[in-house]
Amino acid sequence: MDTPAIKLTGLKKRYGTGDAAVDALKGVDMTIWPGEVVGLVGPSGSGKSTLLKCLGAVIEPTAGHMELAGEVIYDGVWKISDLRALRRDRIGFVFQAPYLIPFLDVTDNVALLPMLAGRDNAAARKRALDLLTALDVRHRAGAQVSQLSGGEQQRVAIARSLANHAPVILADEPTAPLDSERALAVVRILNDMAQQYNTAIIVVTHDEKIIPTFKRIYHIRDGKTHEEAGEGRPI
Ligand SMILES: Nc1ncnc2c1ncn2[C@@H]1O[C@H](COP(=O)(O)OP(=O)(O)OP(=O)(O)O)[C@@H](O)[C@H]1O
Ligand SMILES: [Mg+2]
Repeated sequence: MDTPAIKLTGLKKRYGTGDAAVDALKGVDMTIWPGEVVGLVGPSGSGKSTLLKCLGAVIEPTAGHMELAGEVIYDGVWKISDLRALRRDRIGFVFQAPYLIPFLDVTDNVALLPMLAGRDNAAARKRALDLLTALDVRHRAGAQVSQLSGGEQQRVAIARSLANHAPVILADEPTAPLDSERALAVVRILNDMAQQYNTAIIVVTHDEKIIPTFKRIYHIRDGKTHEEAGEGRPI
């Protein structure tokens, strides 16, 4: 059997102390395999963003165990000394808005992170062009990002999240501003990319248009998750 891309056991997060303490995560268990696209849904305040921030090493959990691709990342304390390198090299982020850098062209937006990670510039650009081809925006490679449509910008943002061969991609409401057709197109792309690059992708969403497409869904309520088979409707 493969090694899980993400394995969480008993993950907890408490914000604040004493009377002001909030237990946002109360023991989350989750296993996500390479190549899977999994939905994370739950009501407002249930802990979705907190969980993504813990997974992205943006905030520190309070207790529990967390592994990425077989390596222990957190076990009561961070087990990794360079969290910035962890975020840069092993986790891709896709947000609701594309957040592209306006003074770089499309290719450099995608190639920037691998370059910062010390990869050869030519290799980083080649990888960027390959991803832009896969995402059907290769013809816009030399354009300024302001000249792209919203859907094109979101595809460039997805290309950027894949640029470092990160084993894990965390997507927070990636389809919220899109119409039904474009939202489903983004989900189709995420599924294709997961298969092609064996990446594990977690999609936080309220979006009723895309929820039926997931094969597996984690529901989060009041800081606890439970897993459910999704409809896995073809996209
Ligand atoms: N920095 C913080 N300090 C204190 N409490 C916080 C902090 N961030 C979040 N919380 C609390 O933790 C709980 C979970 O919040 P979280 O942002 O993870 O929810 P969410 O599921 O992402 O909600 P939404 O769908 O509204 O984005 C909430 O009760 C929230 O008020
Ligand atoms: Mg949130």
